[in-house]
Amino acid sequence: MEQHLPRYDVPLEQSGSYKQILEREDVPKDHGRDLKRPKAVRWGTLGVVLLLVIGAVVATVVVLLGKNSSASSSTVQGVVASSPVVVASSSAISTTTTAPITTTTRATTTTTRRVPTPSTSPAVLPATGKFWFGIAVDNSTDVSVQQWTAGGTGVRPLLAHIYFYLQPYNFTTPVQLADYMISFFGGMSDNSVLMFTVQAVNGISEAEAPDSQIQALADAWRELNIRGYKILVRVGHEMNGGWYPWGRIPTLFQEFWIRFTTIVRATAPITSMVWSPTISDSYPYDQRKIPAAGSPDMAFLDTNQNGELDGGDDPYSGYWPGDEWVDWVGGSIYYYGPSFPYNDNFVPDGHWLERTLTGRVTLTGEQRGPSFYDVYCVQKKKPFIYAETAVYHWPNGTGVDEVAQKQAFWRLALNRTTIAQFPMVRALAWFEVAKIEEAWANQFLDFTIGNNPDVLQAFLGDVKAPGNTAANIDTSIFVWG
Ligand SMILES: *[C@@H]1O[C@H](CO)[C@@H](O)[C@H](O)[C@H]1NC(C)=O
Ligand SMILES: *[C@@H]1O[C@H](CO)[C@@H](O)[C@H](O)[C@H]1NC(C)=O
Ligand SMILES: *[C@@H]1O[C@H](CO)[C@@H](O)[C@H](O)[C@H]1NC(C)=O
Ligand SMILES: *[C@@H]1O[C@H](CO)[C@@H](O)[C@H](O)[C@H]1NC(C)=O
Repeated sequence: MEQHLPRYDVPLEQSGSYKQILEREDVPKDHGRDLKRPKAVRWGTLGVVLLLVIGAVVATVVVLLGKNSSASSSTVQGVVASSPVVVASSSAISTTTTAPITTTTRATTTTTRRVPTPSTSPAVLPATGKFWFGIAVDNSTDVSVQQWTAGGTGVRPLLAHIYFYLQPYNFTTPVQLADYMISFFGGMSDNSVLMFTVQAVNGISEAEAPDSQIQALADAWRELNIRGYKILVRVGHEMNGGWYPWGRIPTLFQEFWIRFTTIVRATAPITSMVWSPTISDSYPYDQRKIPAAGSPDMAFLDTNQNGELDGGDDPYSGYWPGDEWVDWVGGSIYYYGPSFPYNDNFVPDGHWLERTLTGRVTLTGEQRGPSFYDVYCVQKKKPFIYAETAVYHWPNGTGVDEVAQKQAFWRLALNRTTIAQFPMVRALAWFEVAKIEEAWANQFLDFTIGNNPDVLQAFLGDVKAPGNTAANIDTSIFVWG
């Protein structure tokens, strides 16, 4: 999150309309990525495909189980997609695509480490009809969990989210690392949801992010599970931008994700994995770390095959490790302003969030890329968390006041209309951070709710007071700690 603000050095106009690109003659209509398919086609064929899928799944399972009973490889099955989905192949994985089903056969050597679980019912999930509001805090102490839990805010979030480095921690037992982890969550109730964004700051190869370090974290999460905490793990976040060591290296990212998830699943039972790119209409965000032409990474990312990473490419599919390896999806979703340069205080309009979640240009509503919500939440059936989200307030700027900005934002995300429209959205972690932002000419930006008493009172009035018709928020959906 240190550099979560993308540098917008690719003007939107230059990157072309996603829809126009799809319609071009020279763009292959299907080279294995259903994510590019125009929405109308997808939905039009959904019913028919579903019927075919059910029959085909049964047939394929039978065939593959037969094949593998004598071979010493394991078959990962159970991915019923509503349209063809390709599980990316890496050296450890071979992929068989039997449209519209994907079956992945793992190599023998890695069988013991692969522990996939069903994709549609993660261990960590709010009860039906409930929603988790949470806060995302830096691992430093500028805005702490205690600020919220000590009673000052009037609500104790059930979910808190911190940023945690992948590094050697030098504790001799998992209990000690678990105690250290919990020290960042002071005051949270002991049945709460603790979310960790693990930052593999040294890189994500096996040498840079060794299994031993992942295992140490997983052992501590297991300990926290035993104590009653539910854990969400978000690793490799914002992998579709060029600002992190794990950014824009899809081949290595997928391997890393599977390696990490395998260890976590084999260790910590009440722990779910959150796959979480940056979601905004300005992909590819910046020009850092563009993979070399002709490289395997570029093949994953240049989905429109025009030789460039541009706004016509699918921002997400290249990083997808396969449905069976992901429990939740999430996103970094920030409101900066109507258009670049975002040099003032702005309030999001009523369409902004909905358009962001569905791959449209927020200003015009034009379809620009795949709908994140339709592909990952509806088709792949993954619950969604706003993993870090907010609108910033810039005290040095002019424009609307802070209460108006932030209230408009949470009302957009939490009001009845939005919740009904996006039922797979199950949680939100507000970016409770205020900091000097390098990408903003070192200006001080405050993303928080908790720092300004007026903002906080407005928030409580909206989420705690039932019958507040201006907010149109169903306060009974929230689970507090
Ligand atoms: C917290 O972040 C700092 C850098 O800001 C880093 O040096 C430190 O290792 C991090 N601690 C944890 C527990 O992630
Ligand atoms: C653990 O020890 C190693 C080696 O001495 C050191 O590099 C690393 O910073 C230590 N980790 C922490 C979190 O203190
Ligand atoms: C609720 O959200 C919708 C978008 O889903 C928006 O159009 C509307 O203005 C919001 N209502 C309030 C009271 O903020
Ligand atoms: C406001 O801008 C001035 C001039 O650029 C700068 O010196 C000051 O630090 C800024 N204040 C904040 C809170 O960012």
